[in-house]
Amino acid sequence: MNIPVIGVGHVGLVSAAAFARWGHQVVGYDDDGAKISKMQGGEAWFYEPGLDDLMAEVVADGRLRFSHDPDDALRDAEVVFVCVGTPPLPGGGPNLSYVEAVGRSVVEHAQRNLLLVEKSTVPANTGKRLEQVIQRETDRLGTAHRIEVASNPEFLKEGAAVQDTLHPDRVVYGTSSDWARDLLRQVYAQLVAEDGMPVVETDVPTAELIKHASNAFLATRISFINAVAQICDRVGADVAVVAEGMGHDVRIGSRFLQAGLGYGGSCFPKDVDAFAPLAAQVGYEFRLLDQVREINVGQRHWVVQKL
Ligand SMILES: NC(=O)c1ccc[n+]([C@@H]2O[C@H](COP(=O)([O-])OP(=O)(O)OC[C@H]3O[C@@H](n4cnc5c(N)ncnc54)[C@H](O)[C@@H]3O)[C@@H](O)[C@H]2O)c1
Repeated sequence: MNIPVIGVGHVGLVSAAAFARWGHQVVGYDDDGAKISKMQGGEAWFYEPGLDDLMAEVVADGRLRFSHDPDDALRDAEVVFVCVGTPPLPGGGPNLSYVEAVGRSVVEHAQRNLLLVEKSTVPANTGKRLEQVIQRETDRLGTAHRIEVASNPEFLKEGAAVQDTLHPDRVVYGTSSDWARDLLRQVYAQLVAEDGMPVVETDVPTAELIKHASNAFLATRISFINAVAQICDRVGADVAVVAEGMGHDVRIGSRFLQAGLGYGGSCFPKDVDAFAPLAAQVGYEFRLLDQVREINVGQRHWVVQKL
């Protein structure tokens, strides 16, 4: 299949290389020309274990190339993956303007009907919003191609991105037609044949929400054990051993149960901060998540004070 990947950052570049490894013809497009030039020279613009080797293999096989020209990148597109950033806005929700800009650009440059897949992390119902953006642009430009939106959230971790992408715990995609579902089945056919991991096929809002709910749940575990750490400190117990003792219970498990500075990084804070306002918008006050965020901030202060 011909797959353009729009936004070749941590998620986009690793995904592009993996799609090429699974036999697809992939073009990585980014609006940052300096990154594209670097990658056309054969180098990733950031370090990720195993990425340079994977890139070298699929570029040499002629299955992955890079372009800074949207006409060129989208010419033969069948399935387009949106992997641009969704950074936090000052009020907490995500900035979806980059995703929407891709939607408009795809309308302008599409040469046939195609499937536009959100891999960027977005709140539930962004797919509907993106379809409206696409419809408005289609009407404005008078173009004739059908562009349907699907969701395929990404769960990779920076530092293990290649391993996580080539051997994921699960693949989740949400579609609104048999046509779209069959295209995504083809995208992942080789991975499923090789790896046999679970595939969750669902509708678009459910797939979008699985991503936010997953990160919010992992952040909740971290805040929970940090709250337990505060109690351990007051009663003279050892939180590391408490976590170990809890983690041996298979219903609980040991991962994301280490007390420390709290959660951080490029995804958890912004995704937790985006999930609570989404809940509020639809009339549910997600007080548990407010607590998770408060514990996280408090934990940082507490650890710093103890140093
Ligand atoms: N980094 C992670 O660990 C991770 C894991 C899972 C999901 N995600 C999600 O994936 C998305 C991308 O994250 P990332 O870490 O890869 O971001 P990134 O900043 O590394 O990459 C985004 C890329 O998109 C490009 N871009 C922005 N607007 C563009 C446009 N209109 N056209 C073309 N290119 C454009 C940027 O130049 C950049 O190279 C985010 O929504 C993030 O929340 C990230």
